[in-house]
Amino acid sequence: MTCFDRTQETANLWRHFNEGRNLLMLAPRRIGKTVLLNRLRDGAAEQGFRAIVLDVEGFREEKDFFRQCCAAIQEELSTGASVMVALGERLSRVLHGKAEGGDWRQWLLQTDWREFADHLLAHLDDHADGPPWLILVDELPVFLQGLQYRDGDRAIGDFLYWLRNMRQKYRHVRWLYTGSIGLDSIARRHSVEGALNDLEPFPLSPFDPPTARGFLSDIARRRGCLLEEAAGEIILRRLGWLSPYYLEKIAEDACAQAGPGGVLDSARADAAMDNMLDLSKRTYWSTWREHLDRNFPEPERSRLYSVLETVARDETGAAGDTLLSTLSRGGGEPVGQAELRKLLDTLLTDGYLEVNDEHRYRFRMNLLREWWLRYVVL
Ligand SMILES: Nc1ncnc2c1ncn2[C@@H]1O[C@H](COP(=O)(O)OP(=O)(O)OP(=O)(O)O)[C@@H](O)[C@H]1O
Ligand SMILES: [Mg+2]
Repeated sequence: MTCFDRTQETANLWRHFNEGRNLLMLAPRRIGKTVLLNRLRDGAAEQGFRAIVLDVEGFREEKDFFRQCCAAIQEELSTGASVMVALGERLSRVLHGKAEGGDWRQWLLQTDWREFADHLLAHLDDHADGPPWLILVDELPVFLQGLQYRDGDRAIGDFLYWLRNMRQKYRHVRWLYTGSIGLDSIARRHSVEGALNDLEPFPLSPFDPPTARGFLSDIARRRGCLLEEAAGEIILRRLGWLSPYYLEKIAEDACAQAGPGGVLDSARADAAMDNMLDLSKRTYWSTWREHLDRNFPEPERSRLYSVLETVARDETGAAGDTLLSTLSRGGGEPVGQAELRKLLDTLLTDGYLEVNDEHRYRFRMNLLREWWLRYVVL
């Protein structure tokens, strides 16, 4: 996947890393976090770093996390393989008293994960053999939820505080964490925000209008089509929130309809936007509903749905008072201001809603609102 633009963001990220900061990338789904992590990894050597990307979604325990970490280091092109040989020897020396026969996999199996990981990070911290290491962790919140499922609520704080300790202890290793669920909201929910308080928040925004126009034209050109200016403006206006994922889907649909050599005019742009709401394209949007179903227990989940429904029904959005009275009408436990605040914070940070100067909450993406009305609201 080639990363379009993100030049400014990448430069800012390298500046932070060079200044010794560890980062928490906060951004909603499908905005391009994973694409950006891969770009950082690929550009690391040029910036004087060695970088790995760890996608920890689907791992069930801590040892899987560090097995993946070691495997990614091993594959790192500059010195990765030799670093892992040296780690094996180091572990043999420390844990066994002699340097030979050290295979890190063996030690990972035989050693408590904390001890193993401490040695691994000490080894990376002591980077006399090359540039500093940068560990880019994707989908950390999903991994934490897996730990919680296995070991209960305490597991989240335990792992996050342990990571924080490692950051304090090994200051030459740089970290960036991201994921499709806000790590900050997970930490808030479990009252372990202190475990993240040394991290610099790095918000990742959607494309700005000029970048979005350039991106649409680029996709059209690569498919042998021509994007008319007016068509680009229709897409930008109707989408409202310029997520690269949806821009790409719309442009690809319009190109497919136009065929090679075709012209993407206003009518085609409108048709491609309408197509985005077809039942056949429901997977483009279903992640938004799944996110609520998977990650929020009752009664929070129903309340989030209720807020979104109220907001969707009015084109101009909804004010806090309206939301509070809708929630109170739903039966069940009464919902107060503080609870509403929490629900709205979740929907704002997870990318569903935005709030305007008049304190009205609206869908960030017009198309998501249209989809919500068509498929979610009964
Ligand atoms: N900078 C970019 N250049 C080109 N395409 C992009 C860019 N950013 C995102 N995309 C497109 O959007 C899709 C989603 O991006 P990505 O997977 O990086 O999002 P994400 O924020 O990691 O999403 P999730 O939260 O679902 O993991 C990509 O597969 C790609 O098609
Ligand atoms: Mg991702």
